[in-house]
Amino acid sequence: MSILPIVTIPDKGLRQKNRPVTRFDAELQQLIDNMIETMREANGVGLAAPQVGRPLQLAVIETLPDLDDEGNEIEGTRDLYVIINPEIFWTSREVTSGIEGCLSIPGYVGEVDRHESIRVRGQDRHGRKFRMRLYDWTARIFQHEIDHLNGELYIDKLTGPESIWTEEEYEKLREAQKAKQDEHDPMMGD
Ligand code: NI
Repeated sequence: MSILPIVTIPDKGLRQKNRPVTRFDAELQQLIDNMIETMREANGVGLAAPQVGRPLQLAVIETLPDLDDEGNEIEGTRDLYVIINPEIFWTSREVTSGIEGCLSIPGYVGEVDRHESIRVRGQDRHGRKFRMRLYDWTARIFQHEIDHLNGELYIDKLTGPESIWTEEEYEKLREAQKAKQDEHDPMMGD
């Protein structure tokens, strides 16, 4: 396996149409394994083929793990998905805003509205058809990755022109918000 270089904006490949995958051969399996390794190495929760310079309808996704009381990863609580030729065929009316980053837009995060739940159909790494319903953060990651396959980026969908920050700015903002909240909701007792 090998780590693939991740392209960043304004690379034109991030904006182009991507071909459906038609051959589920050894070459594809190797590309998928390399994408999984690249995503993990970059601490990403998703990676789409155009982000590694391949114009294909393919993305890999790995959800964050559940944590125990000490903040350690509980093994077996990450879900790995390989999605090929995916199509969102149903979306919930409810939308929710959340903060997203992208390995192709390093150093920034932005606020984006996404459907709380979606239904997706597509194919797995062996070409078998699947249908799934996703919720919350997993649904958000799927929407972000499937946007990549259509040449779209989260910066196209910000909740407002000001809803983008550098990672440092956002960290400061969060600390300030937390401090403010503590002021308003003092802890009971000592
Ligand atoms: Ni991305």
